[in-house]
Amino acid sequence: MPHVARRLPGRLRAPEPGWTTEADVVVIGSGIAGLTAALRLKESLAAQPGGGRVLVVTKDRIAAGSTRWAQGGIAAALGPGDSPREHAEDTLVAGAGVCDAAAVDVLVDEGPDAVRELIDLGTQFDHDPDGVLSLTREGGHHRDRIAHAGGDATGAEIQRALIAAVGRAPEIEIIKRGLAVDLLLDAPLEEGGAVAGLTLHVMGEGQRDGVGLVRCRAVVLASGGLGQVFAQTTNPAVSTGDGMALALRAGATLRDLEFVQFHPTVMYLGPDSVGQQPLISEAVRGEGAVLVDGKPEEGGTAFMQGVHELADLAPRDVVAKAIMKRMLETGQPHMWLDARHLGAPFWERRFPTILATCREHGVDPVADLIPVAPACHYASGGVRTDLWGRTDVPGLYATGEAACSGVHGANRLASNSLLEGLVFSRRIAQVLPGELRPWSDPVLPADDDREPGLVRADLRTELQEVMTSRVGVLRNATGLQEAADLLAKLADRETEDVDLEAWQTTNLLTVASALTDAARLREETRGSHWREDFPERDDATWAGHFDVRAAGGVVSCEFSPSPATDGGR
Ligand code: SIN
Repeated sequence: MPHVARRLPGRLRAPEPGWTTEADVVVIGSGIAGLTAALRLKESLAAQPGGGRVLVVTKDRIAAGSTRWAQGGIAAALGPGDSPREHAEDTLVAGAGVCDAAAVDVLVDEGPDAVRELIDLGTQFDHDPDGVLSLTREGGHHRDRIAHAGGDATGAEIQRALIAAVGRAPEIEIIKRGLAVDLLLDAPLEEGGAVAGLTLHVMGEGQRDGVGLVRCRAVVLASGGLGQVFAQTTNPAVSTGDGMALALRAGATLRDLEFVQFHPTVMYLGPDSVGQQPLISEAVRGEGAVLVDGKPEEGGTAFMQGVHELADLAPRDVVAKAIMKRMLETGQPHMWLDARHLGAPFWERRFPTILATCREHGVDPVADLIPVAPACHYASGGVRTDLWGRTDVPGLYATGEAACSGVHGANRLASNSLLEGLVFSRRIAQVLPGELRPWSDPVLPADDDREPGLVRADLRTELQEVMTSRVGVLRNATGLQEAADLLAKLADRETEDVDLEAWQTTNLLTVASALTDAARLREETRGSHWREDFPERDDATWAGHFDVRAAGGVVSCEFSPSPATDGGR
């Protein structure tokens, strides 16, 4: 079976811890997955004899992660005539044969209650004038099942409600501006070691400043995605794959990393625009906007007609590929979204955030076409978990975008991401208290565990350029091999600096290399992985997953077959 190997330090180079603290459970991340886990754990631990303390650590401000940027909404079978079965069917089709069907069942069956709980917590979803929860449609859904808030500000409203709920729970401690550097076990993993703490770098003042040691009995990883490995992404600056890289170093498995979702309609701001780019929600197409290759009144065509039965609302990978194809055929650096017919009052009510963003960039979507192109949006893979969020490392759980629970397969269905964080964080809180181990002493790493060292922070731009040009929407063997070679060369450019930027760049390089290895080995086109040199999906060979693991300083990427879960559609 295909296999590649590369070197990885057991731990990142870091100063000795200068302070200590402790909590029974540390939650890393403060989006929907992290705050749901913290709130639910507070309750489930309180029901245990002796209770338990929960500490949330977040790399920046509490609302700086991806959740608040989610526009479209949260999918669940809540509408008349809809059912979890139909939601499962759409999820499996989008996932292109590599979803875990049992995980999908959990997601769709528990989804409606999880959303109702979010409402009970204070989230203000949009309602029709007659008071019924307003549901819309996005790509790949055959029903209206996307609940939204503030028109197109769903993530911001959910984040607001969760922060307010955490504010009412003084038992949950929060450390802001803290990067989890490495997990610490109480013994080597192969000798039965389990989570006993972590090293945490805090940009703080007073007692907790610099690197400290947090003793704990379990860690919930809810640290989000890796979008910053690409030059253009809808992800915020904090999405540097830190949690995935930390889990890999600790012995967990990363799965399905090659399945990076490129959102089809990201506002095109010019060839030199890098970093976080404005998203034009799929819900705009859900409300009737159409992709065109020029103004229809000047001969432009609506090119999604005939490509898929759902036309502009086809699954995201289908739309992204059709846009790329049309861009290549016409030589244009982008396509356009025509949503002029929605009219000003509708735009103002339904998509106020997108309207304001477009106008900030000089485009009035009521009068103009919106320039759009695909850009990195979501990591469908991540730290492999079972149905209860457990990873391969005892005491380490993962949820949300950092995790690979199996619900997304090769291509996440629109608006299933907030739902995944919600559902699987609730599940973790159910089982974790019963699985807590006694306190044990973390073993600090030996010095030779820290080789190779950190890479220079100023490599980030080169890394992003390599990934964007060779591991983006369109992939082929030559480009992927070049990317692997260039990333290996970047790994040799070490620095003596030990700081936040060097840690983040080293984490970016770790996840970029793992992603590239898996993309290079998967010689077929499936979901969001599009190989120009292998244009067909090949279930006979490639129904299954690439798993990336590290052991003894060597990272390997191996294929693990599993039967296709969507009947080959
Ligand atoms: C969107 O609003 O188009 C994004 C929703 C999602 O990523 O699921």
